[in-house]
Amino acid sequence: MSEAIIVTGAAGFIASHIVDRLLAEGHTVTGIDNFLLGRRENLVEPLQDSRFTLIEADLANADEAASVFAAVQQRQPVTQVWHMAANSDISAGIADANVDLRNTFLTTYNTLEAMKRHGIRRLAFASSSAIYGDLPVALTETTGPLFPISNYGAMKLASEAIISAAVESHLERAWLFRFPNVIGHRSTHSVIHDFIRKLRANPRELEVLGDGNQQKNYLHVRDLVAAMFSIVELGQDKLNWFNIGNRDAGATVRFIAESVIEAMQLAARIRYPGGAKG
Ligand SMILES: NC(=O)c1ccc[n+]([C@@H]2O[C@H](COP(=O)([O-])OP(=O)(O)OC[C@H]3O[C@@H](n4cnc5c(N)ncnc54)[C@H](O)[C@@H]3O)[C@@H](O)[C@H]2O)c1
Repeated sequence: MSEAIIVTGAAGFIASHIVDRLLAEGHTVTGIDNFLLGRRENLVEPLQDSRFTLIEADLANADEAASVFAAVQQRQPVTQVWHMAANSDISAGIADANVDLRNTFLTTYNTLEAMKRHGIRRLAFASSSAIYGDLPVALTETTGPLFPISNYGAMKLASEAIISAAVESHLERAWLFRFPNVIGHRSTHSVIHDFIRKLRANPRELEVLGDGNQQKNYLHVRDLVAAMFSIVELGQDKLNWFNIGNRDAGATVRFIAESVIEAMQLAARIRYPGGAKG
C-alpha cells in the first residue's frame, strides 16, 4: 500500500538510496536535509518524480523541525519516518562535541518531538556499531556493556535510548539498524576516500596509519538497503534492533590500500608508521 514517508538526511549517501527504493515501491516521499554533507546530485532522479519533495531544513533546530513536519503533514498524513540525518564526519565530532550533539542527537530528539505532535507512529533509525565502543569480541545485539569511544557513538547510543523511551509513550513501532562501515555509489566518506585524496596529493607514497592489519566489517549499500527493508517488513515487535553486517571477518586496511593503488593504476609505496590502531 502506498504511504507518505519522510526521509531525513535524504541528500546523503545512504538515505538517497532509501529514497530510490521507497519511490520504486510506490510511496510518496519527502526528503529533508540541511546539505551539511548531503548533495542535490544524489537525488537527480527523485527530483524528476512528482511523488518526491525535497525540503532544506536544519533538524537540529527545534522550531525548524516543527514547522517542516507541520508543512509536510498538512499536505498528506505521514505514516513513517526514516531518520538518517546525522553527522557522519567522526573526526569533526571529536574536534567539536557540539557537532554530534546537534546533528546526531538533537536531530533525533526534534524528529521524535515532531512525530509525537503529529501522531506519526513508525520510525526507522540509522544507528551504528560505534555504540559498542572498542570491544574485542564478535558483536551481537546483546553484547555489552555499551561504552562508546567517540562523541558520534555516544550520541547514537543516546538516540537509541530516547527512541526506546518513545516506544513506551507515542511510537507504535521502531526499527534500530546498527550499521557497519558502508561503501558504494554516492558514498561521502570512508578510508577509501581518504586514500584516494592522499594519493592524488602524492601518487608516489601512501601513508597508512597503524600497521595495516586493522580489520573492519564493510557492507555494500545495496545489501544494507535490502537488509533494512527486510527488517522493516519482518520486525513486528514494538522495538526491533539489529546489527547489520557481513558474516566474514572484514577487510584489512592493507588490503584496501593495495586495492586503491591498483585501481588508480599507480606504483605507490605504502608506508606504515606502526601501532595496532589507525
Ligand atoms: N556510512 C557509514 O558507514 C555509516 C555507518 C554507521 C552509521 N551510519 C549512519 O547512517 C546515516 C547516513 O549516513 P551516510 O553515510 O549516508 O552519511 P551522509 O553524511 O552522506 O548523510 C547524512 C545526511 O544528513 C544530513 N544532515 C546532517 N545534519 C543535519 C541536520 N542538522 N539537519 C538536516 N540534515 C542533516 C547531511 O547533510 C547528510 O546529507 C547516518 O545517520 C550515519 O550516522 C553510516
